[in-house]
Amino acid sequence: MTDKNIPQRATSDFQAADAAHHIHAFLDQKALNAEGPRVMVRGEGLYLWDNDGNRYLDGMSGLWCTQLGYGRKDLTAAASAQMDQLSYYNMFFHTTHPAVIELSELLFSLLPGHYSHAIYTNSGSESNEVLIRTVRRYWQILGKPQKKIMIGRWNGYHGSTLAATALGGMKFMHEMGGMIPDIAHIDEPYWFAHGGDLTPAEFGLRAARQLEEKILELGAENVAGFIAEPFQGAGGMIFPPETYWPEIQRICRKYDVLLCADEVIGGFGRTGEWMAHQHFGFEPDTLSIAKGLTSGYIPMGGLVLSKRIAEVLVEQGGVFAHGLTYSGHPVAAAVAVANLKALRDEGIVTQVKSETGPYLQQCLREVFGNHPLVGDVQGAGLVAALQFVEDKATRKRFDNENDIAWRCRTIGFEEGVIIRSTLGRMIMAPALVAGRAEIDELVDKTRIAVDRTAKEIGVL
Ligand SMILES: Cc1ncc(COP(=O)(O)O)c(C=O)c1O
Repeated sequence: MTDKNIPQRATSDFQAADAAHHIHAFLDQKALNAEGPRVMVRGEGLYLWDNDGNRYLDGMSGLWCTQLGYGRKDLTAAASAQMDQLSYYNMFFHTTHPAVIELSELLFSLLPGHYSHAIYTNSGSESNEVLIRTVRRYWQILGKPQKKIMIGRWNGYHGSTLAATALGGMKFMHEMGGMIPDIAHIDEPYWFAHGGDLTPAEFGLRAARQLEEKILELGAENVAGFIAEPFQGAGGMIFPPETYWPEIQRICRKYDVLLCADEVIGGFGRTGEWMAHQHFGFEPDTLSIAKGLTSGYIPMGGLVLSKRIAEVLVEQGGVFAHGLTYSGHPVAAAVAVANLKALRDEGIVTQVKSETGPYLQQCLREVFGNHPLVGDVQGAGLVAALQFVEDKATRKRFDNENDIAWRCRTIGFEEGVIIRSTLGRMIMAPALVAGRAEIDELVDKTRIAVDRTAKEIGVL
């Protein structure tokens, strides 16, 4: 490589050192070591470069987090200025600082008016860990300490730490490291896979009513909250039928169960609204946030609380024995402020809603609506999924759909586009700064990858 920004070290050298020291995420490490990982060395806008000079259009915003794309100098400058001013302080010793205050004023000016307080964290997993303790503490203060059980959904994803894994519904993760008590799950609202002969509307209601059945089975007096992603992200960008969320909200209100939205992927403009629950039109009691809060420039997350919950914690709760060294870290807060200002002041969220989001959705439906390998296109704003299918009429999925989608993802890399596979779905979520040209390139390269996959398995 001749790029002066790129360290001059052979890829094989990086790979050997990587294999010597790292256990990677969600991969067979031995297989990865044999193949060698791609070494990503630079990012600019929506593009990434690897150490061999290959350029990729990042159709996944890293891991759904680089809302502003790579290489924004204003975010770098915000971090640098904050490090010069106050590189660290905490929120333990009767202290606070301007950076976190500015962040909260800005954040709550962007969120619906019934949210008032935040507990900041370093990641989405931590936000959900904090959620469990906060929700249980809330009920404890109200004299209902037995209200402890959290209900999540099978195939939901809420992070990789122990309690976040337990809240999630990835059974293969539960099997590695165990579960925690007082967690239950209901089925996911995945009509294409589980809807049978029901219409999406009928299925949405049926899926939601499983929550009611589960609450009644466990006893409403024992259930603290229900957690779900407004649309399932890691589970495959699964959008529930329109009937789902209103019914879930009705059930949570009826049984006094807190409605906890995991906005780690859906938040910060992904669907064209600031939060994904606004796209679906329901009102959660808590929001778990991370990723797009800082566009991934620096780790930061948080648990956002409604006034109802915050009031109980503040007015009646006394000491909440909880705290993280880096909660509200000034440098992360300064980056978040610069990020949120850019998303707001450059009209990026508005643009996703009115222009680029509808454009991506329309292009995908035009290109894949009649594709022999694609049974469904789902999404809103700049998030979408293509559902692979063996038989469109019956919605029969391939027995080896995982392998087929994984192959498509690998071809995508060869074609210079990063899209992800989850079960039999190809998922994408480009940075929110994507313009029409980048969306065209994303759709075009995805089409090439899907076509090549379809040819390989003999359906094209
Ligand atoms: C919905 C959701 N919640 C939580 C998390 C965990 O976030 P983190 O990886 O920052 O811990 C993720 C990560 O992808 C996620 O998609």
